[in-house]
Amino acid sequence: MGTHSELQATVQALVQPGKGLLAADESGPTIAKRFGTIGLESSEENRRAYRNLLLSTPGLGEFISGVILYQETLGQKADDGTPFAQLAARNGIVPGIKVDLGKIPLALAPGDEITEGLDGLARRFVDYKQQGARFAKWRALYNITASLPSRPAIEANADSLARYAAISQQAGIVPIVEPEVLMDGDHTIERSAEVTEAVLHEVFHALHRHRVVLEHILLKPSMVLAGADHAQQSTTAEIAAQTLRVLKRTVPCAVPGIVFLSGGQSPEDATANLDAMNRLGPPPWNLSFSYGRALQEPPLQTWKGEASNVDEAQKALLKRARLNGAAALGQYDASQEKK
Ligand code: 13P
Repeated sequence: MGTHSELQATVQALVQPGKGLLAADESGPTIAKRFGTIGLESSEENRRAYRNLLLSTPGLGEFISGVILYQETLGQKADDGTPFAQLAARNGIVPGIKVDLGKIPLALAPGDEITEGLDGLARRFVDYKQQGARFAKWRALYNITASLPSRPAIEANADSLARYAAISQQAGIVPIVEPEVLMDGDHTIERSAEVTEAVLHEVFHALHRHRVVLEHILLKPSMVLAGADHAQQSTTAEIAAQTLRVLKRTVPCAVPGIVFLSGGQSPEDATANLDAMNRLGPPPWNLSFSYGRALQEPPLQTWKGEASNVDEAQKALLKRARLNGAAALGQYDASQEKK
């Protein structure tokens, strides 16, 4: 049974000015796809070596307060035999765990999806906690078309997110609630705003219904922006303004932190967009990052699976972490990109 002070301590460790989260929780199929871009086989040892590279980056804890791990990684050890969760904790980084089991088509509504993994979750938390996890993540996905996501998809995913969050808090684990509105498609930024607003309204209704303590969650939303195939790509100023407008309408200020996903934005765009939001005046929540691709693309492409590239790859990760840390304070300087 989790306690109030345990959850509070974890929230405080995660939400720190100038710091954000590293999402390194790619599932088996997703990490295989990422490794495919550098021509590397997704063997258990390659996955371990890659996560070892990320987590042993010197100085990472200066900009990264928490890392989201995949179940397999939580059970693996660093080169020196230290379990990864302990290695992270030693570097001042709180270890967390992705607990959803992925998505399947929602039977009711063609094109919509629902995230699985609630059955047995309370039992799984006992093991994860023993292995050192202090927070968790569950991702719900929403595809945008002219008619999607449907109401049933918005409601079912909100309910699952809220049940997951309630089970997490009961286990003494801080839940990261991640409703991701996908940027795939040719929709306008206005349509992205409309869908994101409906999704977040429903998520916070469900969290209330399930008596989730808002002070002890983090929200991990997508930014509001035009679809990747839309002719008119959104500017940084538009993304910042539209995203903040939707968040202010839907997210109570009791929520201590909002940590964005990058969702397929380039590393530089993800940093610039976060920075722009923090420059628009102090938001009611700590606004930071929980990036996967936007933090990992440069180190992955530098590493290429070669031990001789590890130092350079770690520098590439640290650079993105540092620049995003600055963006979380509204102090990003784009000229630093060239250094
Ligand atoms: P991206 O930043 O690559 O979208 O990943 C974040 C994440 O955790 C997705 O679930």
